[in-house]
Amino acid sequence: MTLILGIETSCDETAAAVVEDGTRIHSNVVASQIEVHSRYGGVFPEVASRMHIEAIQPVVRQAMNEAKLTPADIDAIAVTQGPGLAGSLLVGVNFAKGLALGWDKPLLGINHIEGHIYSLWLIEDAPPIQFPVLVLVVSGGHSELLLMAGHGDYVMLGNTLDDAAGEAFDKVGRMLSLPYPGGPSIEKAAKQGVTGAYNFTRPMTDDSFNFSFSGLKTAVMRAVQQPPASGKRTRGVESMEPGNLKAEVNVNDVAASFQAAAVEMLVSKTIKAARMYDVTEILLAGGVSANTLLREELKKAAIRPVRYPPLKFCTDNAAMIAAAGYFRYQAGQRSTLELDVLPMLPIAALHSPNI
Ligand code: KG4
Ligand code: ZN
Repeated sequence: MTLILGIETSCDETAAAVVEDGTRIHSNVVASQIEVHSRYGGVFPEVASRMHIEAIQPVVRQAMNEAKLTPADIDAIAVTQGPGLAGSLLVGVNFAKGLALGWDKPLLGINHIEGHIYSLWLIEDAPPIQFPVLVLVVSGGHSELLLMAGHGDYVMLGNTLDDAAGEAFDKVGRMLSLPYPGGPSIEKAAKQGVTGAYNFTRPMTDDSFNFSFSGLKTAVMRAVQQPPASGKRTRGVESMEPGNLKAEVNVNDVAASFQAAAVEMLVSKTIKAARMYDVTEILLAGGVSANTLLREELKKAAIRPVRYPPLKFCTDNAAMIAAAGYFRYQAGQRSTLELDVLPMLPIAALHSPNI
């Protein structure tokens, strides 16, 4: 039995968890900062770092207490090294280094995206995953389509050319003055709306497996934003003031039509890849995998079984970091106390010959 303590502080959640053999959860503690950041309409990096500093020690202590374990029981400490916000990552990495030194345990730097992928291993009583699988990771910072041939063995088929899927949900949510984060707010509003009330473009129907959300985002902006006062130029979606909506806009209809278009873009590329590569399953991970329409549409269109994490493991947590840490630990990977944060850590760095 191998017990890994996972620590995650890459964005706006301070999290710690203890996981056995990469699959069995002994504890999973998440302190979310969403309420604070929602006042700013998005994550405020400086505030995030300070809140991590306050939360990290009690969160780790709670994870150990709930697991009813002492430091002697822990085999290794896995911590998110990147990608993420530099100041936030630093808090987790430094805390993990301190523990590794104080408890005399091996340290493992984990790629956050790989963490999301390993949330799929945390499903209770699920049949084991047989490789090769196709993985769609869709979060606030990433949209990636990967071919996974084994543990730690990834080939990137496509990624986003502009915004990540979750980022597009967040920006459209902001345009519609919906509470942050936009994803869950849009999903909720869409339930009351008419899909097809707006016919948003679905760009990127090319041959690649890449995604692009900027065209869709601009189409939504054009449909909902009041025309600028004469002589004034608009400076794109980023500058659109929330609440600056045309009087006739039906927020629920826009939400439903945007969600349908975004989901269709993700599903069509994923299905195309599933047809081209001989995979046993399609795995869906990351914050946007919480979206019911995405899950349902993918299942409907898929020629292979679709697996996604339980809702609590879709968004950021430390159990997924501990799970990824277990497979890295098994493969003999160890980080030194020189471990540095890598805010821009690319997905390509996942392809480690260590495993
Ligand atoms: O994985 P995650 O917690 O953090 C990152 O690693 O980025 O993902 C957060 C993202 C946010 O953009 C949020 O709007 C989106 O996931 N999200 C959703 C839903 N729940 C969260 N997007 C669509 N539908 C949802 N139900
Ligand atoms: Zn994440």
